[in-house]
Amino acid sequence: MAATSGSREAFGTRAGFILAAAGSAVGLGNMWRFSYQASEGGGAAFVLLYVCMTLLLGIPLMLAEFGLGRRGQLAPIGSLRRLGGPAWARLGYVFVAAGLMILAYYSVIAGWTIRYAIEAVLHGFSASAGEHFGAVASGGDAVAFHIGFMVLTILIVVGGVKGGIERASLILMPMLFLIVIGLAVWATTLDGAGEGYAVYLKPDLNELKNPTVWRAAAAQAFFSLSLGMGAMLTFASYLRRDQNLPESATVVAFTDFGVAFVAGLIVFPVIYSLSLQGAVGASTVGALFIALPSAFEAMGGAGRVVGLLFFVTLAVGALTSAISLLEVVTASMMDEIGLSRRKAAIATGAVITALGILPALSTETLGLMDKIAGELLLVAGALATAILAGWRVRSEVEAELIAGASPFWARQVPRILGVLRFAAPPIVATVLFFSVRETIAAFASYFAG
Ligand code: PHE
Repeated sequence: MAATSGSREAFGTRAGFILAAAGSAVGLGNMWRFSYQASEGGGAAFVLLYVCMTLLLGIPLMLAEFGLGRRGQLAPIGSLRRLGGPAWARLGYVFVAAGLMILAYYSVIAGWTIRYAIEAVLHGFSASAGEHFGAVASGGDAVAFHIGFMVLTILIVVGGVKGGIERASLILMPMLFLIVIGLAVWATTLDGAGEGYAVYLKPDLNELKNPTVWRAAAAQAFFSLSLGMGAMLTFASYLRRDQNLPESATVVAFTDFGVAFVAGLIVFPVIYSLSLQGAVGASTVGALFIALPSAFEAMGGAGRVVGLLFFVTLAVGALTSAISLLEVVTASMMDEIGLSRRKAAIATGAVITALGILPALSTETLGLMDKIAGELLLVAGALATAILAGWRVRSEVEAELIAGASPFWARQVPRILGVLRFAAPPIVATVLFFSVRETIAAFASYFAG
């Protein structure tokens, strides 16, 4: 453990921290996963459930990570060791493993978004979007774009907390918000937009009886809010005690939900205005990389511009999320082994780049990695985090969260921690049970097929 509080890097501004945390949260999950899951899970019924999960699990768990990180002043392994004792350091290793694995396949998807953006400039979208996606999603090109995206991510993380992560977030996040809102306004002008909104916003309440939809909503909340693998914990370890943590967690969670919701207001009208709904359910990536590009293609010149903006936004969101994933692993190497930031970022980035070649060569492998790391490990990590912060070191976490909070938010801390202690563990444990079952089934079909 080389770093001490005195020499530790820190965010320069309060807004910088909030934008970096929001940058971690807002990403491919908001567009790639959210729209797909909403279309599968009964539209607004899923959206409603998702809001409940964000309030009930998301905000309390984010607050737990913020409290643990700022208290511990180290990356996850060190912070958990410092607060919970050596046994809890193991959870930190699980976080690092999850970060490695998620970034490995996340970067492949991010590579696709960059490719589509470049194609929009060079020659527009392909008329046979399904075949095109099949041809470029895996193989040499996918590997090349994955490597390119990883290099970008590494460069920013090498720049440090203030000069790299905070600066990138301050520039990229406002740009992302503006484009997303602009595209949603444009989508209102489409013929058939009404039908898209109706499907999106009319709840199919029957779906609420389906436990799979509940599990999906909870798992989506963890993934989308970057919870369960120490990303928020790591960012909070770069804070001093003047940040209002409960307020920050609430702002970040609502920003993340807001972007996911508005993204749905883009995706659904575009798809329904061209009657492409059939292409959505085909695969988890169907909506984003097949249905939308064919819609953009059918719209001619305007579609090319809008499509370019759309994929640039996705790439930007992916980049600010990837930074946080790499930072968890990098900061752990810095704190545990005493490597310099540059060496740690390049070494861990290289390992992740190599690991990412597997999902870049097979979309089935990508899907399996998403199930294992993007779902199972996050749910398990969230459960352990709730137990640690809610029970094992509760009083320390509570004191940490109240420090720096305004009187209003300080009064909310015991309430939110009450939810973390009593509501979160049984719900997350139930979700974990179903996730384990799903992951076993996914394994079986992966090796059977
Ligand atoms: N929250 C990110 C997204 O929605 C993904 C992510 C998961 C980032 C876990 C960091 C940690 O795209």
